[in-house]
Amino acid sequence: MMPPLADAQRRHLAQLARAYETQLARHGYDGVLLYSGCAHRHFADDQHASFATYGHFLHWVPLAGLEHSWLLIRPGHKPCLYFHAPRDFWHQPPRLPEEPWVDAFEVVPREASEAPRLPAGRFAVLGEVSAAQRLGAEANPEALTRALDELRVRKSDYEVACLREANRRALAGHAAARDAFLAGGAELDCQLAYLKAARIRESELPYQSIVGINAHGGVLHYQHYDLEAPARAHSLLVDGGHRFRGYCADITRSWAGPAASDDYRALLVGMDHLQRQLVEALAPGVCYVTMQEKMHQGLAELLVAHGLVKASAEAAFETGITRAFCPHGLGHLLGLQVHDLGGRQDRQGHPLPPPPTHPALRLTRELEAGMAITVEPGLYVIPMLLDPLRQGAAADLLDWARVEALGAHGGIRIEDNVVITATGRDNLTRDLEFIP
Ligand code: GLY
Ligand code: MN
Ligand code: MN
Repeated sequence: MMPPLADAQRRHLAQLARAYETQLARHGYDGVLLYSGCAHRHFADDQHASFATYGHFLHWVPLAGLEHSWLLIRPGHKPCLYFHAPRDFWHQPPRLPEEPWVDAFEVVPREASEAPRLPAGRFAVLGEVSAAQRLGAEANPEALTRALDELRVRKSDYEVACLREANRRALAGHAAARDAFLAGGAELDCQLAYLKAARIRESELPYQSIVGINAHGGVLHYQHYDLEAPARAHSLLVDGGHRFRGYCADITRSWAGPAASDDYRALLVGMDHLQRQLVEALAPGVCYVTMQEKMHQGLAELLVAHGLVKASAEAAFETGITRAFCPHGLGHLLGLQVHDLGGRQDRQGHPLPPPPTHPALRLTRELEAGMAITVEPGLYVIPMLLDPLRQGAAADLLDWARVEALGAHGGIRIEDNVVITATGRDNLTRDLEFIP
């Protein structure tokens, strides 16, 4: 571990201890017990699903994948890590790394997986805990949970460094996936190239990579990997991430294939331009609902400029046509979870639901320095969403032949990871990207 990262992590942990102390006092608790969680077993089977450690536990302990462990936070005491390390010859027991952060914890290695006994007092226990594990403590109290979610919203220098490294690793995967596609590979070849170059196993990704060739790029969370490459390769969309010390990258790139149409190529350039413009507009105080609307105004201009919509950009925006081309949000908070917590609440934890016109928007609050977010405008041909337009008042406004021809390319999404700074933004993805 690099000394600057170790120093930044020490500051991160000290800051977290102070923030927990404040919140525990405010909510009237003597302490909180955080449970790492454990992998679920398939029903009537002896095999387990992949596992992600509980985010609030990971906020302290940078061991993504650690199971059956507990962390007791009590103001005035060192955080106590009940580290599950059973004697086991079937599996490799977990081992603590020799890293400076370990000194910030009192470590209690143990064979047991059940919750440790709590001292006298009022305690909350957070995580996936069953009734039997409640120990007389309050399980997942709403108000404290929201307050701890809020502590995840603004990232420390340590967290930003981790996000940057996750981006660096993911970008190696993206370049390799693109190369595999351009060499004639199928979706599975692109995915395997991604994993190899990013040096990560599938189960440790923050989410299942989306690798869509041609029309599959228009399926927002396309979940398969075709074994055969299509005869004509129009396009590739890869939404792939990485994790570094628990922190997630979430990056999308779209690529033209040898059979790409001129319309697709032109829209790809236009979407790249729009995405960069949107990133440039980010700063503290900017509301992400406004940014979502800016995205739709930009999409409207693009569709009109390229002749897919035969109306003014204002009409394309006002009639909601653009919402059929992009039903998802412009972005979300990013951190220990790919869709990180706190995007739909204000600083006090009050809910900020998305507007009815943009129900999928996961980030509805004003941007603040330290937030890490994604910026991911998209433009897709999704027949299920476009078909209703054929029957409505907007039917004559679309050049249906060109829209249908674009459908063979699925869609375009360009997604970067951006940290809001005191005066603007820091694009973690583009800063590192090198496309030969
Ligand atoms: N990869 C999921 C998302 O972009 O939100
Ligand atoms: Mn995303
Ligand atoms: Mn993504």
